[in-house]
Amino acid sequence: MLSLSSLGVSSLCASILSFLGRESPYLTHHPVLPPSYPLAVRNPYLSAWMPSDRVSQLPVSEPQFWAGQELGWSVIVRVDGQAYSLMGVPDSDGRSIRPAEVHRARFTATHTIFDLVAGPVAVTLDFLSPVSPSDYLRQSLPFSYLTLHVSGSRGYNIQVYSDIDARWTGRESRSVCEFQEVDGLASYSLTVEDATLYEEADDMALWGSAIFASRPTNFTALSALSGSPEDVRRSFLEKGKLSGKGSWSSGSVAALAHDLGEVTGGLSVNFAVGYEREAAINYLGEPYTGYYRAKYPTSSSALSFFLDDYAIALLESLKLDQELVTSSAAAAGSKYADILALSTRQAFGGIDLTIPNGSLDTGGVLAFIKELSSDGNVNTIDVIMPAFPIYYVMDPDYIRLLLEPVMKYLAAGRWHLPYTIHDIGTHYPHAIGHDDQQAEPMPIEECGNLLILAAAYSRATGDTNWTSQYTSIFRRYADYLVENGVNITKQLSSNDAAGPLTNETNLAIKAAVGIKAYGQISGDGHYSRIGDDHANIIFRQGLGTDQNQTHFVLQYPDWPETWKTPYNLFPDILLGLDTFPDAAHRMGSDFFTTVRGEYGVPLDNRQDWAKSDWNMWLAGTFETSTRDEFVDDLWAFMTNGKHHWPFSDRYIASSEHGNEPGVPVLCRARPTVGGHFALLALAGPRSLQSISGCGGIGSESVGHVDQNHPLAGKHTEEL
Ligand SMILES: *[C@@H]1O[C@H](CO)[C@@H](O)[C@H](O)[C@H]1NC(C)=O
Ligand SMILES: *[C@@H]1O[C@H](CO)[C@@H](O)[C@H](O)[C@H]1NC(C)=O
Ligand SMILES: *[C@@H]1O[C@H](CO)[C@@H](O)[C@H](O)[C@H]1NC(C)=O
Ligand SMILES: *[C@@H]1O[C@H](CO)[C@@H](O)[C@H](O)[C@H]1NC(C)=O
Ligand SMILES: *[C@@H]1O[C@H](CO)[C@@H](O)[C@H](O)[C@H]1NC(C)=O
Ligand SMILES: *[C@@H]1O[C@H](CO)[C@@H](O)[C@H](O)[C@H]1NC(C)=O
Repeated sequence: MLSLSSLGVSSLCASILSFLGRESPYLTHHPVLPPSYPLAVRNPYLSAWMPSDRVSQLPVSEPQFWAGQELGWSVIVRVDGQAYSLMGVPDSDGRSIRPAEVHRARFTATHTIFDLVAGPVAVTLDFLSPVSPSDYLRQSLPFSYLTLHVSGSRGYNIQVYSDIDARWTGRESRSVCEFQEVDGLASYSLTVEDATLYEEADDMALWGSAIFASRPTNFTALSALSGSPEDVRRSFLEKGKLSGKGSWSSGSVAALAHDLGEVTGGLSVNFAVGYEREAAINYLGEPYTGYYRAKYPTSSSALSFFLDDYAIALLESLKLDQELVTSSAAAAGSKYADILALSTRQAFGGIDLTIPNGSLDTGGVLAFIKELSSDGNVNTIDVIMPAFPIYYVMDPDYIRLLLEPVMKYLAAGRWHLPYTIHDIGTHYPHAIGHDDQQAEPMPIEECGNLLILAAAYSRATGDTNWTSQYTSIFRRYADYLVENGVNITKQLSSNDAAGPLTNETNLAIKAAVGIKAYGQISGDGHYSRIGDDHANIIFRQGLGTDQNQTHFVLQYPDWPETWKTPYNLFPDILLGLDTFPDAAHRMGSDFFTTVRGEYGVPLDNRQDWAKSDWNMWLAGTFETSTRDEFVDDLWAFMTNGKHHWPFSDRYIASSEHGNEPGVPVLCRARPTVGGHFALLALAGPRSLQSISGCGGIGSESVGHVDQNHPLAGKHTEEL
């Protein structure tokens, strides 16, 4: 799945970054210091983050796109005529705008919350990116909330302001700005002039529009202005509102301001930030669009719904956050809970949930996932595979939604090789297949993955219809594994950065488990017996182990000193396939504590880097004490303060090769962190009740909560 390796660059970046971090004397991080805070993370093109080393200087700090591009997003509050910068005002002169003090930074599964003090008032910036997988409408909306909560002990005159700039479009110099006001809803749409459909620039979408919107509430007056940041912000600083003639050129900002008037107690206002693409995905030549457009086909109707939906989205997010903490801590402790909280938005932030743009038929829903930060492949089977534990826990239908675009293509007979395809497109959002038959070859890897994913889907959902319609395709790949799954020709596995191998033991394990998985979905005992036979050869007869059976070797025969993390054993346990006996798992529990680097166990004996997703899979096969070592090591990497990318799933685990341990390599923001949910998945499918309700268009949710954010309220009171 990876094709590059650039150890040197990443360690250099990491050391420069850690050098720059000066902590504010007040600042604390809860539950821990992450590498980077998700701000607006909902799909591959709406992915804004605040590197954690910038948080102590939040008033002057700009966020970044996941791939590292700077984004303009500022927030200012004005209290009795004095302005305070809260975020992203780099050129603040310290007099007309004073920097607020940052007191606390927090993250949950769905929120990032910064608590600041601006003169006499407390201000909370609450960034909510809903994760609502079973509610396709809510999940597919390409917007994220910023809620500003202001509170003070006596009445103050308060105005709040926020702006974004055209760096959100990926090509500032050719940006155009449109402003719309529909029934009070004010929205800016920033687009790139003459952008080509589906064109990217360094992973940012050039087609589509960056969106910034808000709506007056019953206690605020809303104003809007675009133009140079100096002019626009001066209007706000001087008058507490935005007025004048809007303009647009390179470097301009699009701003919205709320006048809250006299505030006693606390008040909140919402902004929406987003990135809309009408044609979101090119699936085999047909445009697919966001699921939400079936019901809200225009930008303003979608935004209006999004803002209306806040109260319910908030309640749901608070339940999810709480339930995830409780259940993940019960599964593997509080450090594990921290890891899952940081992984959740990122895992779903790699996905677009779509329907055909022409028919807007919600029956044709398909999910697409981007292989972020390696090569941008679409619906890579060995990206869906490592990520699947989060779907298993939150909504196993995503396994089908993500595989269906691939299965339709295979069923159409457009792929002719005897093993299955690696992905459905070389680069997102072009899910156009590989009619030239030139997908990255990973024969055993992807055949095993596909069969195991299909088995996981039917086991978790009880739906056997979907797999049965593709039985003949699955059987072809099961037969391929039967033929080729022990005497394995030289080939890549998922970790392609490690190079191809002959007779890689972990692939042989995957083949055995994959054949058994096919036995389960087809009910054909013949395949189950062959899967068991393969496992016998690999484990009981010792082909894939050292002579004394202390560990699985990297490759066989005759490489007794080598080893690789045999993470393909995990689905065997999760799905109750019983391909390998308990003795095979116990072996790993004993062995892997003996090859542990400073930050855990590397992928195999040749590498100094680890894959966090596969390590959590493997930990799911261990007894508690070894499992806890793996959790401790990943947590130590996540919280060590040495790096500031969105959660990296690949990092230096050991100093054995002379590299600095505990720093990431190449990978940022990848949805494969869904694999961190492996330990929680062992609690069973759909184990988070709060989000397992059915959703989608037609199941209108109703309800009402106070606009004041319960979390924000709690925090500001404590000040
Ligand atoms: C204004 O909105 C708040 C929060 O939604 C609500 O509690 C309050 O009753 C509303 N006031 C009026 C006058 O409508
Ligand atoms: C998507 O559908 C809209 C109508 O809903 C249409 O105007 C637009 O051209 C379509 N996009 C593409 C790329 O076909
Ligand atoms: C499977 O298909 C049958 C017949 O079409 C249908 O009655 C049944 O509800 C389907 N089951 C599931 C779980 O979708
Ligand atoms: C494995 O494959 C090689 C090359 O095709 C062949 O020479 C060898 O006999 C095979 N071994 C077994 C045990 O099938
Ligand atoms: C791979 O393993 C098989 C035994 O299953 C063996 O016959 C073959 O020689 C091995 N291939 C290599 C290149 O070692
Ligand atoms: C295998 O185990 C035996 C008995 O414990 C021991 O004497 C021998 O050295 C071990 N062999 C290897 C290769 O470690």
